[in-house]
Amino acid sequence: MSKKRLFTGLQPSGTLHIGNYFGALKPFLDTYTEYDSYLMVADYHSLTTLKNGDELRRNTIDVVKDYLAAGVDPNKAIIFKQSSISEHTELAWIFECLVSVKFLELAHAYKDKVAKGLEANAGLFNYPMLMAADILLYDTDIVPVGRDQQQHVEYAREAAKKFNLAYSNLFKEPTEKIVEGVGTVPGTDGQKMSKSYKNTIPLFGEKEEIQKAVMSIVTDSTGERPENVYAIHKLFRSESELNKLYEENKGKYKNLKEALLLDVENFVAPLREKRTSITDEMVMDVLKVGAEAARLQAAAKITMVRQEIGII
Ligand code: TRP
Repeated sequence: MSKKRLFTGLQPSGTLHIGNYFGALKPFLDTYTEYDSYLMVADYHSLTTLKNGDELRRNTIDVVKDYLAAGVDPNKAIIFKQSSISEHTELAWIFECLVSVKFLELAHAYKDKVAKGLEANAGLFNYPMLMAADILLYDTDIVPVGRDQQQHVEYAREAAKKFNLAYSNLFKEPTEKIVEGVGTVPGTDGQKMSKSYKNTIPLFGEKEEIQKAVMSIVTDSTGERPENVYAIHKLFRSESELNKLYEENKGKYKNLKEALLLDVENFVAPLREKRTSITDEMVMDVLKVGAEAARLQAAAKITMVRQEIGII
């Protein structure tokens, strides 16, 4: 029996943190070899926020390095850049003509932006349809994502349904795969760990950076257990081990932070070493090989789509 297809996308958004690792990378690493896996750098998606060519170029290389360093084997997954395959933006347009403005207005990312009184660009508004195109072009079965991306997979299913109804059954409806408990990793301030909150612990950070982040974890002076420290610590040790440790160190926040620091550093050090051994050239090669493989799939699918919609 042939393997099911797995597809996931990465935002090339700068330094990865342990929230990205436990929220997206680890679930991917644990399962990707059981599937026919595609790993795409969503460089066009990142244009919704990033307007700096050099930075995007750098971030794109960096995110691939991160994934390779974390253990993704480029011989076991097709790794490519979204922008290498123009079929993605083409199919996004076709989907945009099938869904309503009202429907897209319900997307969390867009709604949150507007709720904050900020101006959303049209790219952000259409973001879910580009993501639907990413997923659907490859007849994807499974999309491993953090909980924050669940709605986007729902949008992809809806795009598939709309197309299948309007034309013919070309698209498979994908399913999201969310790993419970790690969908949202708390940051040093107790909010979701996110670059935009500046509450992250870097995944490949130097020892000093990690120390600074761990020591800055916000503790509230009322309880005996520093909840924010514990919540992050849970990622590295079982709760039974932790309960013992935290019981023994009741109220001793500094000891507990130091214990966490040791665990984080032991986890990060080998990843950091591997990452420095990967060159930019190695990454470009991987992306080139990946694009060739992805293009074969995408081109075949878009030909069927073009036929259906009446442009060939
Ligand atoms: N929106 C995803 C994120 O911000 C990235 C992404 C783009 C993606 N295209 C995708 C994820 C397709 C899964 C499948 O993390």
